Amino acid sequence: MKIRKAVIPAAGYGTRFLPATKSQPKEMLPIIDKPTIQYIVEEAVAAGIEEILIITNSQKTSIENHFDRSWELEYFLVRKGKTQELEQIQHISEIANIHTVRQKEQKGLGHAIYCAKAFVGNEPFAVLLGDDVVDHDTYPAIKQLCDQYEALESSIVGVQEVPYEDLNKYGIVELEKPLKDHVGKLVGMVEKPDSSVAPSHFAVLGRYVLTPRIFDLLEHQAAGHGGEIQLTDAICGLVKYEGVYAYEFSGKRYDVGSKIGYLEAILDFALKRDDLKEEVKVLLKNKTKE
Ligand code: UTP
Repeated sequence: MKIRKAVIPAAGYGTRFLPATKSQPKEMLPIIDKPTIQYIVEEAVAAGIEEILIITNSQKTSIENHFDRSWELEYFLVRKGKTQELEQIQHISEIANIHTVRQKEQKGLGHAIYCAKAFVGNEPFAVLLGDDVVDHDTYPAIKQLCDQYEALESSIVGVQEVPYEDLNKYGIVELEKPLKDHVGKLVGMVEKPDSSVAPSHFAVLGRYVLTPRIFDLLEHQAAGHGGEIQLTDAICGLVKYEGVYAYEFSGKRYDVGSKIGYLEAILDFALKRDDLKEEVKVLLKNKTKE
């Protein structure tokens, strides 16, 4: 079955980025001149996804505005003859069918996903975390997972290997056997384990395709790590009812919710842009000399 719908949870408070995120969603922080969430929406669109639900909260109206028409700005750009800019901002509002729903209390990622139940209905759906950007020139990470779903017809979590000292920052998968051709069956998952007891070196990095059965588990999911309702725990529950797979996707992933991840994303994206790369290289060269 083709994946038509995606959910982007973006209702967290982004405490690692305070004070910038006091009155501004972290998902709207720009990577150069484009908000983070637009990269993520574009990834979903490039995977052929038609309907996108963004989970927001009352402080995140700027996300809704970003994907809406802006008549005043458009009129201004027409008057100034700024055709290229006009096309750019009109394109954003036509990019996909964007829906939003508010998570009224920040009870955790699992709870945020549960807010998508009515939107998703009874079909499998993709999840892209609002602060994880994955860059791939030709094969978007979520498309890789959607294609795996079409082959396996089971829930899939996107993983990559992370260094030993970082295992305690992620949900880590426990696999039945080592990955073969980048795929492996899941036995369980642990949220932010101590590195010394982590069941593998593969971390779930912000991309999932899930069956709607996840909502039955999320409905009754008790709070777990950090007192939050964890998606990781519900996926562990799902393993008891149906096959769940880990897929090692390719692409460079940036944790844009962390300061270093955000800086690295800005630098890498700048170094890929024809209008910026030469100047950025000179800048970096001079900085490293200093
Ligand atoms: P994070 O833990 O990275 O986001 O959640 P956060 O809580 O906003 O950030 P910090 O840790 O305080 O800096 C991963 C994703 O889940 C969403 C976040 O918006 C982010 O995209 N999320 C998290 C929700 O939508 N609701 C929640 O209750 C928690």
